[in-house]
Amino acid sequence: MKIGVFDSGFGGLTVLRSLLSIVPQADYLYLGDSARLPYGSKSPQTVAHYAASSAKFLHTKGIELLVIACNSASAVALDAIRSAVPIPVIGVIEPGATTAANLSRTRRVCVIGTQATIASHAYSNALQTHGLEVKEKACPLLVPLVEEGWTDHPVTEQVARIYLQELFSECEASWIDGVAADTLVLGCTHYPLLKPLLSRILPEDMQMVDSADAVAHQVALVADLNQRFKVSAGSCSFFATDSLEKFRTLGARFLGQEIAAVELVTLPE
Ligand code: DGL
Repeated sequence: MKIGVFDSGFGGLTVLRSLLSIVPQADYLYLGDSARLPYGSKSPQTVAHYAASSAKFLHTKGIELLVIACNSASAVALDAIRSAVPIPVIGVIEPGATTAANLSRTRRVCVIGTQATIASHAYSNALQTHGLEVKEKACPLLVPLVEEGWTDHPVTEQVARIYLQELFSECEASWIDGVAADTLVLGCTHYPLLKPLLSRILPEDMQMVDSADAVAHQVALVADLNQRFKVSAGSCSFFATDSLEKFRTLGARFLGQEIAAVELVTLPE
């Protein structure tokens, strides 16, 4: 089975990494729209426009299922993407929210993500349908710091501390009964690379949830993949809209393995 995986650039490779470990016997086609990133600081209309053209490109390659690895695109453009291609489309918001809902004992959850994701309240809405109380915080500086390779750098730690202190102060001000959030949703493809750094900042009893594993489990379930993959050895093809060398070098950090070849594609404006 051919599965498309789409992201604004390199970050979605953290989701592909989980897909490869949980559902290894698929043929993956990954598209990073690196010419037009970041999506997280753009308007919903622009993200929807870019994401729909990216989804159509992957569809022309014969994919049967599309995973939107980008949190920003999943948050603001899922409906536009679903209208653009006649195949099942899975975003990362719902699987991540469901995992957080299953894990949280205090029923209070914090979410961090890009400006686009947080402004959409997509995680908040999804978590509230599970009966959780939610506080959200946009952390726009974290994406460039991760792309700089500063995943364990004092500057990144300081920036993350400031964001999280602001978030936790808001929680304390709102939740005056003293019951704190026990779960932090990492609502951006780049944040899983910051888990070691974040674990130094977070309260000891606070757990982190990212959508990567959750979405991979959903892919396995929805497509009944275990059955259908018996015949396939599995493969990965990579496409990017810009900066192939950067895609290979930066992408390897997100994927956790070398990327041998990337094909340059031009998408319609
Ligand atoms: N992939 C984006 C996300 O998960 C982060 C990078 C960007 O803003 O394009 O929201």
